[in-house]
Amino acid sequence: MKKNLQLGVFGFGCVGQGLYHVLNETKGLKAEIRKIVVKNKSKSRPLPADLFSFDRNDILTNPEIDVVVELIDDPVAAFEILKEALANGKAVVTANKRMLADNLEEIYRLQQVYGKPVLYEGAVCASIPIIRNLEEYYDNDLISSIEGIMNGSTNYILTKVMEEKKSYAESLRQAQDLGFAESDPTLDVRGYDPSFKLAILIAHAFGVFVSPDQIIRFGIDRLSQTDLDFAVKNNLNIRLVGRALKQNGKIYALLATQFVSNTHPLFGVRNEYNAVTVTGAFAEKQTFIGKGAGSYPTGSAVLSDISALTYDYRYEYKKILQENGLTFSNDAAVEILASFKPEQFREEDFIEIKERKSSSGLITVRGTVVLNRLQSWSDLDGVSIVLAPEAALIPFEAAILQPSAS
Ligand code: HSE
Repeated sequence: MKKNLQLGVFGFGCVGQGLYHVLNETKGLKAEIRKIVVKNKSKSRPLPADLFSFDRNDILTNPEIDVVVELIDDPVAAFEILKEALANGKAVVTANKRMLADNLEEIYRLQQVYGKPVLYEGAVCASIPIIRNLEEYYDNDLISSIEGIMNGSTNYILTKVMEEKKSYAESLRQAQDLGFAESDPTLDVRGYDPSFKLAILIAHAFGVFVSPDQIIRFGIDRLSQTDLDFAVKNNLNIRLVGRALKQNGKIYALLATQFVSNTHPLFGVRNEYNAVTVTGAFAEKQTFIGKGAGSYPTGSAVLSDISALTYDYRYEYKKILQENGLTFSNDAAVEILASFKPEQFREEDFIEIKERKSSSGLITVRGTVVLNRLQSWSDLDGVSIVLAPEAALIPFEAAILQPSAS
C-alpha cells in the first residue's frame, strides 16, 4: 500500500534543487519535503526560509520524518548522516557515490541491523535505472560483464574537444557551469568518480565488494594531442570506459580511456550521456543509455528511489546472498596504444608488442600489458595510454607471465 512519505533533505545544491523541481512536477507521488538542512547561512535561497535549517537534528531526530535524502558533497559527513538516520529508524536515499563506494559493505550490514533500506540509483549514471535492473531484471541471468561510460562530465568534455574542437579548459569549464562536474573536478577527469560507480555496480552485478582503490584507473587527463590526432585520422572516438568481467571465479575491472570505432555501442554516446552494456548468459548484450549527470536527471533518479519507498522497495543484494565465492583480481592484461619518452620505454614491460614506431621524440606502441604495469605507469609524466579499439580484459594465470610483467 502506498504511503505518504515525509522527507528530510540534506543539501540544496545542484541535485537537491533538481529533486525539489521534479518532486513539485510529479503530482501523483505522495511525498513532502518537511525540512532541508544546509550548511551556508549567508546564501540566499529561492524557497521560504522556514523550510531550511542549519541543525542536522531537525531531520535526524524528528519522529515525523520517515526518509532522509542525503545530497551533500562531503562523503565523511554523508556517512555519519546515513548511519544516524538508519539508527533512528529512517530510510535513506543518497546520491553520494564516493560515500557509497567507500562504505558499501558496511552499509549493506547496517541495513540488515536496523531493518531500514538505503537506495541510491542517483549515485550511478544518474538517470539510467541500472542498479534496480541489476537487482531485479538480471536476478536469474548470469551476468558475465558490465561495461560503459559512467561519468557525464568527461564524456561531455571528450565530445566538445573531439567534435567541436573546443579546448579542454573551456569544455571543462562548461561541464562545471552546467552542474555536471564534481566540486573538485579532478574526481571526474582523473577517473575517480566513475571508479566509485563501477565499484557499486560490481557489488550489484556480481555480489563482490571491491574498494574503488583496487580498481586500476586512468582518466582523460592522461590523453595527449597525439591520441586525439590518432582518433581523428582513423575515424575513431575516445571514451572513458569502466568495465568489469567475470571469468573463472574472479572479477576483473578497469577504468580507462579507449578508442572506439563507429560500430561500437559507445561511439555515438555524446555529451553528458552515459551508457552501460550488460552481458548476460541468456539475455546477451543490452545497452542502457541516458543522461549521466545534471540537476534534473539526477533529481529524477532520487525521486524514483523515493517513489520506490512508498511501496517498501529495498535492495535485496541477491548476488551477495548467493555467496558465489567470486573474488576480485587484477591479474589480467589488455591491449593498449601507448606513447612514451624514449627513456620511459621498456620493451619487457609488454607481454606482446604488435606495432612500434618512433616519431617526434616519442615511441608509440600497440601491445598487450598486464594491469599492474598500467598502474605503475599511471604516475609517470608523459606516458599516454588509451585502450585499443575492441580491447577487452584478458584474464591470465600468473605462472605464464614473464617475470618482468608480474
Ligand atoms: N560528476 C558526475 C559526472 C556527476 O560528471 O558524471 C554525476 O554523478
